Amino acid sequence: MQAAKKVDDFFHCKTCVVVCGASRGLGECISLTFARKFPAGSALILLGRDVKALEDVKSKISAECPHQLFVIQKFDQGNIRQENFENLFEGIFQVHKISLSSFEQAVIVHSAGTLGDITKYAKEMTDAETVKRSFDVNVTGAILLNSTFLKAFNDILKRVIINLSSLAAVQPFKSWSLYCSGKSARDMFFQTLALEEPSLRVLNYAPGPCDTDMQKDCREKSRAPDTKKMFIDAFNSGSILSCQTSIDKLCQILMTNFKSGAHIDFYD
Ligand SMILES: NC(=O)c1ccc[n+]([C@@H]2O[C@H](COP(=O)([O-])OP(=O)(O)OC[C@H]3O[C@@H](n4cnc5c(N)ncnc54)[C@H](OP(=O)(O)O)[C@@H]3O)[C@@H](O)[C@H]2O)c1
Repeated sequence: MQAAKKVDDFFHCKTCVVVCGASRGLGECISLTFARKFPAGSALILLGRDVKALEDVKSKISAECPHQLFVIQKFDQGNIRQENFENLFEGIFQVHKISLSSFEQAVIVHSAGTLGDITKYAKEMTDAETVKRSFDVNVTGAILLNSTFLKAFNDILKRVIINLSSLAAVQPFKSWSLYCSGKSARDMFFQTLALEEPSLRVLNYAPGPCDTDMQKDCREKSRAPDTKKMFIDAFNSGSILSCQTSIDKLCQILMTNFKSGAHIDFYD
């Protein structure tokens, strides 16, 4: 990471935060951490497919942070229909009587993601539906959600976009062709956005290997023996990070003047 001076107003602004993929793993941890750190009167809009899990996250966080507003919304980022994205936030503002004029900052966290089929090598990617599904969730859905966020929060001067990226965006892993190529495409989309829109702060954050359902799948489902072994060895040697350790690092980065569009890894 390049030398970065501290700009510490990120957590001082009354903020409306959207977290897609808030029901578990890193997205859940980000939701809790941000709810603790942002000033009272901030709002968190938690998106995911599993409403029961979102409700559990909401009750856990709201018990600790009763001064914030929490909204949960069932949302499938892989269901690519125009009407699922268009006016998503306007609908939420209306139902929950959210007035944007009360916020100084809007933040979206793109945590939703899937490994896709990691049981096959690249040359075996013959099933159109499997390939399409992976890109729908990891790429197309993230792009459309981001655009609808920018449109809905257009009147808020400070807008910050956090893409949960991966080492896999910049380095190939055997039997991970769909995941690596999707993560790479997503990073480049957000780099391009950052270049086009200097008023936005855009961060591609690679969180390192974190203890989540996805990490368990890396150990258990990777087809390539060397990929699988790498994750099993990391687990056995205790080098998998807790979500909180990685998200604390993310919070530190957000308080610096990182270059918008940068890909920053936990280990940088
Ligand atoms: N864990 C790691 O070691 C690691 C390392 C590098 C990068 N990352 C990245 O960090 C992000 C979070 O990973 P994680 O480990 O926390 O994953 P996880 O434990 O598998 O959780 C994935 C989250 O994404 C949501 N999600 C999945 N498909 C979705 C869909 N179609 N629509 C809406 N939400 C969807 C899930 O919610 P529902 O099931 O409720 O929809 C869940 O909240 C991912 O983008 C991943 O690529 C993780």
